[in-house]
Amino acid sequence: MSSVIKSIPKSAKFSTLSQLRQQVQEVIKPLPQPEYKFGSFSKEQNAFLDRVIRVDQAGELGADYIYAGQHFVLSRTEPQLKSLIQHMWDQEIYHRSTFNQLQAQRRVRPSLLTPIWKIGAFTMGAATALISKEAAMACTVAVETVIGGHYNDQLRILENKFNDIKVTNSNQEQVKILSNELQTLKDTIKTFRDDELEHLDTAIEHDAESAVPYWLITEIIKLTCRVAIFTAERV
Ligand SMILES: [Fe+2]
Ligand SMILES: [Fe+2]
Repeated sequence: MSSVIKSIPKSAKFSTLSQLRQQVQEVIKPLPQPEYKFGSFSKEQNAFLDRVIRVDQAGELGADYIYAGQHFVLSRTEPQLKSLIQHMWDQEIYHRSTFNQLQAQRRVRPSLLTPIWKIGAFTMGAATALISKEAAMACTVAVETVIGGHYNDQLRILENKFNDIKVTNSNQEQVKILSNELQTLKDTIKTFRDDELEHLDTAIEHDAESAVPYWLITEIIKLTCRVAIFTAERV
């Protein structure tokens, strides 16, 4: 190897890597792209988006722990339901990790009551499962009803109050467009809302309405969820 190097005359010129890269870049010049400048969100819009991410992350964390509690009990008492609960739990874990990412991207602080959400949600899942499998399913009906409605409320606001971001293209024309951030958030919420409603249907198919007392269990849990949502948006 060294003999090969020695055989190269000192006067020989080589292209360095950076010279080669420069030559390539001169040949392959990128096509001019229109310059889109996104209008920034107003203070109120930013505050709303932060609230959405905070409460949805807390809600999905709660759902993760509710199914963990249900799985802990039902995998022992009703082993035939183990894979069904695991499937819904896996979806909640995915929902939670997605909102964890969004939270990091937007630098939104998590709910300060996160430890309480964890303990409360696990207890709710385990306690209803200990009553009966029907009561566990009634818990799912209540939770998913509130969460599905909550996601629909958010989508309505995102649809009505965030649709007119004006951008200027290369011809200095004003056009209306939805930012990638907003489109991704809306798509995410829609997908998760559909998953939650599927969980609700699954729980009804598995005799949620036979729980005794169905009305009391679902109404208490719905109220608890609404209070939790109100609090997690703010604290
Ligand atoms: Fe979820
Ligand atoms: Fe769910």
